[in-house]
Amino acid sequence: MKKLAVLTLAATVATTLMAADGAALFKKCAGCHGMHGEKKALGKSEVIKGWPKEKVVEALKGYKAGTRNVHGMGALMKGQAAALSDADMEAIGDYLSKQ
Ligand code: HEC
Repeated sequence: MKKLAVLTLAATVATTLMAADGAALFKKCAGCHGMHGEKKALGKSEVIKGWPKEKVVEALKGYKAGTRNVHGMGALMKGQAAALSDADMEAIGDYLSKQ
């Protein structure tokens, strides 16, 4: 049990240290969505600037899982969301909600 507690603590510290920076993460999305999410990506997506954090996280989780496809481009967003951790999604959601 002690070992487990140490491991849990180590994981918590690592997560905190690597606390995702939404603005930095969003740079690789900006080519399509605009620096602040102000563009319709490829003329298809909604403007995601100002979306509530939960809505962004829900959408990204859906794309990652391959279950979301709103404008026929879900497969493309699956590729974008695949590498994002839950913490990354939260950070991006936080960033967009403040734009
Ligand atoms: C190559 C262009 C491209 C890149 C890069 C890209 N997206 Fe997208 N994004 C799209 C398209 C196209 C859609 C519409 C997908 C669909 O049909 O549901 C979309 C949809 C979305 C949506 C939902 C909007 C809606 O209309 O429902 C969110 C949120 C989103 N993207 C976030 C991101 C994030 C965060 C990143 C970076 C990790 C990213 N995107 C990178 C093109 C892109």
